[in-house]
Parts: sequence; C-alpha cells; structure tokens
Amino acid sequence: MPGDIPSAELRRALHQVADLIADYVDGVGDRPVLPHVKPGAVRGALPAAPPLEAESLDAILEDYERLIEPNVTHWNHPGFMAYFGITASGPGIVGEALAAALNVNAMLWRTSPAATELEEVVCDWLRGMIGLPEVFRGHINDTASMSTLLSLAAARHALADLEIRRRGMAGRGDVPTLTVYCSDQAHSSVDKAVMALGLGHDNLRHVASDDAFRLDPQALRRAVAADREAGSRPMAVVATVGTTSSTSVDPVAAIADVCAAEGLWLHVDAAYAGSAAVCPELRAPFAGWERADSIVVNPHKWLFTPFDCSVLLVRDVDGLRSAFSLVPEYLRTAEEDQVTNLMDLGIQLGRRFRALKLWMVIRRFGVEGLRAAIREHCRLAREFASWVAADSRFELCAPVPFSVVCFRWRGQGLEEAELETRNHDLLDAVNGAGPVFLSHTALAGRYVLRLAIGNLKTTERHVAQAWDLIRDFAGDAPSG
Ligand SMILES: Cc1ncc(COP(=O)(O)O)c(C=O)c1O
Repeated sequence: MPGDIPSAELRRALHQVADLIADYVDGVGDRPVLPHVKPGAVRGALPAAPPLEAESLDAILEDYERLIEPNVTHWNHPGFMAYFGITASGPGIVGEALAAALNVNAMLWRTSPAATELEEVVCDWLRGMIGLPEVFRGHINDTASMSTLLSLAAARHALADLEIRRRGMAGRGDVPTLTVYCSDQAHSSVDKAVMALGLGHDNLRHVASDDAFRLDPQALRRAVAADREAGSRPMAVVATVGTTSSTSVDPVAAIADVCAAEGLWLHVDAAYAGSAAVCPELRAPFAGWERADSIVVNPHKWLFTPFDCSVLLVRDVDGLRSAFSLVPEYLRTAEEDQVTNLMDLGIQLGRRFRALKLWMVIRRFGVEGLRAAIREHCRLAREFASWVAADSRFELCAPVPFSVVCFRWRGQGLEEAELETRNHDLLDAVNGAGPVFLSHTALAGRYVLRLAIGNLKTTERHVAQAWDLIRDFAGDAPSG
C-alpha cells in the first residue's frame, strides 16, 4: 500500500500554500474581477483523462497557479460588487484549512463532540449577536436554500393531523392542497423548496409587493382567505428581510400578525441582511422576526465567513428533530439521550465542520469589529446612492436599507426596451474594464443595475472607481 504522501512533503506544500493564499489575498485586488477566459478554455487546457502515475504536488500546484487561480471569478476581490459582495476573511480561511485537516463528520455527537458542541455554542453566539431571544436554536447548513427547505418541511410536519411524514401526500383524498406564501420578490430557493417537497409550484403564492418591493400584508390576508375559500390549507409564509434584487424588507411584524391569526408557520429569509442585525441601530427592519418559527441567516454572505455557512434558527428544535430524526441501528449511541446528534436536525447525515470557521471569524473580529465593517458597508452604499441621486443622467430604483444600491442610466424619452439595451451595454462595458464587477436585476419590469458592497477590503476608493467607470461609459448616450 502506498499510504498518504510523506509528512515532510505535506509540510512543505502547506508552507507553499500558506504563501499562495496570503499572496492571493494580498494581490487579488490588482487583478480583473472577471477572468479573461472563453467558455471551454479551462476544460481544453486540462487532460481529458486522469494521470495513471502519481504526480508531484509541486507540478499540481504549478498547474493550479497557471490554470485555476487566474481563471476563477474573484469573489474575494474588493471590486466584486455583483449579486452580494462576500468575504473569505483571514480567520475564516484559517478555520477552513483546519477543518479540512480534521476531516470530522459531525453526524453524531460521538463522531465529533467538539464539532457538535462548538456548533451549538457558535449558533447561540450568533443568535445573541443579532438580538434574537434564547428560545431560538441554531443549526448550520450549507446554504439558505437548504435552510429554507428544512423549514418548510418542518412546517409541513407541524400539520400533525395529516401525518405526511409517515403516509406521504400522493393518492390520499384527505390531504388538501397545501399553500405557501411569499412576495413576488422572494428568492427562488422558496420556489425550489416548494417544488422539492412535492407541494407543487402552482401552490406557492407570490403575493404582490408594494412600490418599495415589500410584501403587502393585506394582499397576503386576501390570498390566504381565497385559498381557504377554495378548500386549500394555507401552511406557511416566507417573509424576506433583505430581498435578493433590492434588499427590500417585508413588514415582518404585520406578517407575523397574519400568521398568528391564521395559524401559519412563519419563516424569515434574512440570508443576506440578517448579519446587519449585529448592529443594534440597524435592527428596526427586523422588528417582528422574533415571532418567527424559523429564520435563516447566512454568515457566508455578510459575516465574512468563507462559503459555505448558513445558520437556520428554529423556535422549536424538537419539532425540527421530529420532522427528520430517523436512527438506524448502526447510528445508535449510548449517550443519545444526553446530547445533540446533528444528523437528527436535517436531511444530511454527513456534515462539514463549518462552525470552526465561524467561531474563528467571530473571535478574531469581535462583535464590535463585525459591527464596524457592516456599518462601513452601509455608509459606502449610502454614499454611492447620494452620487447617483445627484447626477441627473441616473436614477435610484429602490430604497437603500443596507449595502446594495439599485440604479440605472435613465435616458430621456426612451422606450423601456431601449433603456434595457443601453443599461445592459453599460453594465457589460463597466464589467469589461476589469476593476469592478456589478450585476443587474429586474424591478417592476425595469432592467436595473445593482452595486452590492460586502467585501471587507472594499473601500471608498473602490466604490468611487466603480462610479467613475459607470459615468465614463455612460457618456450622454451609452452604447457599450
Ligand atoms: C434573500 C436570499 N435568500 C436565499 C438565497 C439563497 O442563498 P444560498 O445560495 O445560500 O442558497 C439568497 C441568495 O442570494 C438570497 O439573496
């Protein structure tokens, strides 16, 4: 048996990788955010078949530097302002490296006591940091998509009389159509969860949002009433604090009132904006989320933790356990009544040790450090919005509650289709320049540009650089 590589080789490679990582993090801002690479080019540069004989780590790392590193999109770049800006911070990278070495699978307490208990502690820290009451219990998943799927599964399981876990839904005359509600701005992960759970995409109601892209609670009430009238059984509402397109904020307290009156599960999707609640002065938009049954917050979005790390907070952890726990003989342990076995709280059996990096991030920055970074990102977004507002060639397209600005070149007297083309071309030109990467969305049927701040190294200089490029390429009539 060949065994693993010699420990001296590992040590040498790790030192080399430490330099590679530190150099990458130091220098990433000097690269174009988007790689200059054509579709298929990376694949074409790689051999179609794996090597039959072992290769040296030196050779592999050389190829990494030549082929891989230059051809990724640089999410850890201070000019990355597309989608949601994110950061793999230093402490998070260190945590990720150590987790790879430990390689623990915290499916059971026994299969890693420290990973299990650190996850409980870190989720409890996060819960307190964002001002939620102690009743909430956290569980780390890969993504918000998974957290929302688990929440809606738990919501369905809470309809105990239907016994869906045991009997399923198909072929039963006694299971009414179960309906779920969110706004027309909710993330597509809600749609996918409804589809995956077999509830049927048609039974997700995308309730109209108002002119600030917030779910309208009156429209929600009407939709629930209409479904009851039609013989359906309303099941859950997903409210979003910080929607993907515009970071709009649904009125959670009013939605919680509807849920309480109608007996509906309330899931709050705060995947992006939840981190802002670490700042006490930014908590107003979250009012009412303490009444939710479940909440998702992604530290991998705006809490400087490397991808992936999504925290699902549930009010009734026993309910979540009862939805998912299934313990075959080979996973039984003597201590199961005294401990948490994380496999019981979701679909996955095996799970990565994600708590380690989050623990390192929270400790290294401290709560005050995290607050300062989030405040600065919000300040930069307000600053950028003020520049847009002051330039008559542009318009703001949505309020700016957090660190994302939606705006567009406004043109004069142009049809919507023409405005879309011009703004699309403007975006392409700006992104083609190299130093920044922005993205777009549609709001109220209009094509708009988004500038999203979330990287720890993004400073006013980077935001000003983005604005200079936008104005330069816009000219009087951008044509791309
Ligand atoms: C509001 C919101 N919810 C959910 C998601 C999905 O996140 P994930 O990639 O963690 O599944 C996103 C992604 O941007 C989001 O903005």
